[in-house]
Amino acid sequence: MAQAAAVGALLGASTAFLAPSAAPAPAPALRGAPHSSRESTGPGLAGAAGVGAAALGLGLLAARPATTACRAAAVKKKGVKVVHGKEIPWNLFSPKAPYQGKVIENDVHPQTLTEPTGDANWETTHVTFDHGGKVPYIEGQSIGGLEQERKGEQPAKIRLYSIASSAVGDNQNSKTVSLCVKRVVEVDGKFANREKGQDKPDKAGTAFPENKVYRGVCSNHICDMTPGDEVLITGPTGAEMLLPEDPEANIIMLATGTGIAPMRSYLRLLFHDKAGAGDGGRKFKGLAWLFMGVPYSKSLLYDDEHEAYKKAYPDQFRYDYAVSREQKNAAGQKMYIQTKMAEYAEELWELMQDEKTHVYMCGLKGMESGMAECFGPIAEKNGLVWTEFAKAMKKADRYHVEVY
Ligand SMILES: Cc1cc2nc3c(=O)[nH]c(=O)nc-3n(C[C@H](O)[C@H](O)[C@H](O)COP(=O)(O)OP(=O)(O)OC[C@H]3O[C@@H](n4cnc5c(N)ncnc54)[C@H](O)[C@@H]3O)c2cc1C
Ligand SMILES: NC(=O)c1ccc[n+]([C@@H]2O[C@H](COP(=O)([O-])OP(=O)(O)OC[C@H]3O[C@@H](n4cnc5c(N)ncnc54)[C@H](OP(=O)(O)O)[C@@H]3O)[C@@H](O)[C@H]2O)c1
Repeated sequence: MAQAAAVGALLGASTAFLAPSAAPAPAPALRGAPHSSRESTGPGLAGAAGVGAAALGLGLLAARPATTACRAAAVKKKGVKVVHGKEIPWNLFSPKAPYQGKVIENDVHPQTLTEPTGDANWETTHVTFDHGGKVPYIEGQSIGGLEQERKGEQPAKIRLYSIASSAVGDNQNSKTVSLCVKRVVEVDGKFANREKGQDKPDKAGTAFPENKVYRGVCSNHICDMTPGDEVLITGPTGAEMLLPEDPEANIIMLATGTGIAPMRSYLRLLFHDKAGAGDGGRKFKGLAWLFMGVPYSKSLLYDDEHEAYKKAYPDQFRYDYAVSREQKNAAGQKMYIQTKMAEYAEELWELMQDEKTHVYMCGLKGMESGMAECFGPIAEKNGLVWTEFAKAMKKADRYHVEVY
């Protein structure tokens, strides 16, 4: 009952999320924007709650990494958190009382996004759940995907997943949430939950019956789901990765692997959804620049969408990727995201001097030191120390990091 009341309160209070900010803005706000037509596609540019990024906990909810700073204010009322003066949905559903949703078909993306590469963990999926409008969230948040705990499978805990859909969801009815999940499969490694002869083909047909295998508990559960399957959802949560409200902001996105999830959420809002449409164009007026790092070209995620945005908005969207095991730079170094960014170091440095520029980083922790490698020399040339510059950007809420 309490849970239902909390959800009701949040949904009832949804106008608060949609209310225009006190100071009149010259252009529609990038997030927290008023929504002109309630019945059209859902919330405004920044989604249902009009606030940035959070995490949806699907049953297996892990603690947020220490590297994730949360500058949100204390929770004021159940199911809501106030961030920079605006309410966002917050932990509407707990592990003890999760929301029970269903996996639904996604016409645009078949479940598996990647192609076999020869690696055991080649598969990354895009899975969409129906939440019936009961789990509002905004771009940049996460949820927990809750699997019924399997006896004997360790470690048993909730796992968080960054939401890969914008607030209105992939089909823009504000009733679905999508995730981008990599299947964890380790062969003859330190841990095993299948002895030799026990591993059976997964939904993609991959199996290692000759080996000892560790299959990640939650990721395999999600990757093996089919439409109609029930799923337990917790959250949403997360306030580190929220989009700025300024429609003229520049958004630099750095993603390794499934770290693309929040970036996809932003890009749907900025360049795809009806909720982000402005007079004769888009509400978003800045530059969005995505750097994506993957091991193989067959592991590129949402490449079709990125190419389409580039074609439709060539002055507003730039897209570069680093394919670590196929590309090298001129010095023969492995192509990591920071190696690719180094090719544009001057341009990126200039962009970061603009107080309208925000940097979003999601994925592997190693990216942070990669940034130091990339921008250390140029910062020094300008009489600055990169770590200090990055710290100042974080303080100004312009450097958003969620790495794991
Ligand atoms: C904020 C946040 C957002 C995230 N977003 C995403 C996302 O969008 N997409 C995504 O795919 N992932 C995401 N993750 C990671 C996700 O939460 C899970 O960690 C991941 O899916 C693996 O979970 P699993 O249950 O499949 O693996 P687990 O079963 O938890 O196994 C994980 C690791 O534990 C090791 N292990 C096994 N047994 C032991 C033991 N006894 N002791 C120690 N280690 C052991 C295994 O070798 C394996 O490498 C996110 C994480 C965070 C914190
Ligand atoms: N919100 C969050 O916190 C969040 C959200 C989503 C995902 N994640 C985490 O992000 C990670 C993504 O992993 P994945 O398996 O999806 O990715 P992946 O497909 O393996 O791709 C990762 C890429 O990054 C490269 N890489 C390795 N070390 C690097 C470094 N120090 N700097 C820059 N690039 C580096 C890899 O290169 P090589 O392998 O060739 O060395 C590879 O090309 C997972 O750990 C996931 O849990 C976190």
